[in-house]
Amino acid sequence: MTLSPRTIKIFDTTLRDGEQSPGGSMNLNEKLELAQALAELGVDVIEAGFPIASPGDFEAVRQIAQSVRGLTICGLARCADKDIDRAWEALKHAPQARIHIFLATSAIHREFKLRMSTDEIVERAVAGVRRGAAYCDDIEFSPEDACRTEHDFLCRVVEAVIDAGATTINIPDTVGYATPTEVFDRITMLRNRVPNIDRVTISTHCHDDLGLAVANSLAAIHAGAGQVECTINGIGERAGNAALEEIVMGLKTRQDYYACTTRIDTRRLVPTSRLLTKTTGLMVQRNKAIVGRNAFAHESGIHQDGMLKERTTYEIMLPEDVGFVKTDLVLGKHSGRAALADRARTLGFTLSGEQLQLVFEQFKTLADKKKEVYDGDIVALVQQEISGGGAIREWTLVDYEVTSARNKTPHVRLTLKRGDAEKTEIVEQGDGPIDAAFWAVEKITGVELVCKEFQVRSATLGRDAIGEVNIEVMHKGRSYRGVGASTDSVESTILAMLNAINRIIADKPSA
Ligand code: KIV
Ligand code: ZN
Repeated sequence: MTLSPRTIKIFDTTLRDGEQSPGGSMNLNEKLELAQALAELGVDVIEAGFPIASPGDFEAVRQIAQSVRGLTICGLARCADKDIDRAWEALKHAPQARIHIFLATSAIHREFKLRMSTDEIVERAVAGVRRGAAYCDDIEFSPEDACRTEHDFLCRVVEAVIDAGATTINIPDTVGYATPTEVFDRITMLRNRVPNIDRVTISTHCHDDLGLAVANSLAAIHAGAGQVECTINGIGERAGNAALEEIVMGLKTRQDYYACTTRIDTRRLVPTSRLLTKTTGLMVQRNKAIVGRNAFAHESGIHQDGMLKERTTYEIMLPEDVGFVKTDLVLGKHSGRAALADRARTLGFTLSGEQLQLVFEQFKTLADKKKEVYDGDIVALVQQEISGGGAIREWTLVDYEVTSARNKTPHVRLTLKRGDAEKTEIVEQGDGPIDAAFWAVEKITGVELVCKEFQVRSATLGRDAIGEVNIEVMHKGRSYRGVGASTDSVESTILAMLNAINRIIADKPSA
């Protein structure tokens, strides 16, 4: 007799723990768009934010709770009355709401962070869960740093909060310290020792400091956890959280081993990953499992030969199953708006009429320069035109001219437009043309930027490929990202800067 597979709940925390990753912040519209995409992906729970953390976080949780349907919307709260009340205030209009309450339990956190005794921790945890349970019947409790908490004390806290009304018990590896065997043993220990554990769903939440977050999450599931907390592309605090796409495909590909399934529409994994990249500018490395550009590319002759004879010699998943689209169709200068819209949709971007117009204009300019426009070019154009600041076109590029030569100061003549007004500056300073372009943009816009990161990469293969520039800049103590795409890297740089400046203006209209 074969048992039917267990369905594991996917709890996505991209908008909460993921947003805590440096450079990963999103504005309200971006959060709403991502939340909708997560719902379409099929996640069971969205942790939409930490309502007490800031008015922006509160508003994002409130609006997601009001508008995203078909799944549970969750808000995080420390184990304190004001946090729990604020979380409920943000969540109360969601048809399915969950309050996620956390309190650290490990000796190191008790002694140095909380300065509380074990009795005080149990008392506070029980009071917090009771308060949450008076608002809603779906309460998750996380003993923070659970994986470094003494077994006896962890069992005591877990039993007490279940009696107080918790419905999910999450066991976080907050500092990414545990190993897969330890996680397996800890979940097994809780299942064996906590008498009321069968009344709740056990959850796992692993950080990637030792690169073990996905392995640890799968070990927890193997030991009986029914929910896994994860983020798209594994973004998150420090080294990140467990990557949703890797866990989901691990369970699907090795269903023979884990005997578990999820509700995720795996064909939406790549589009959702791209949406997050587009929104935050946080790129995934080429060889990233499942969603990286090279995840299904076979380079070695032996592998290619094997693949031609029988695909399964070297391929354990189908690229189509995670949302990569295989196409022989290349767009060019005769391709129309409908073909571009269709291609963009296949690549995971549904463009509004206005967005399509913007991307189409850039596409035509590009198609005039290059004979063939590939999928990578289209992704780069869409990311530039409709990502965060791109959607707000406060400052746009009109024209530029650069001269640069060895041992000579570069010369840049730049014209930008804001509303109907055009402004031109000539700059003769800087280490090279890119530096000079930075000076010129700052001079015209009056927005001072400190560049923290500057990356150029080609969107496709070939000498005429689009060069995609990704920058992270600081302005008045806050970090902003910008992307720019062009076949000319100076132009990409100017566009990336304008993209970042437009984000700054959107964030602070007075900038
Ligand atoms: O890593 C962690 O412990 C957390 C908790 C709030 C669950 O993010
Ligand atoms: Zn975390």
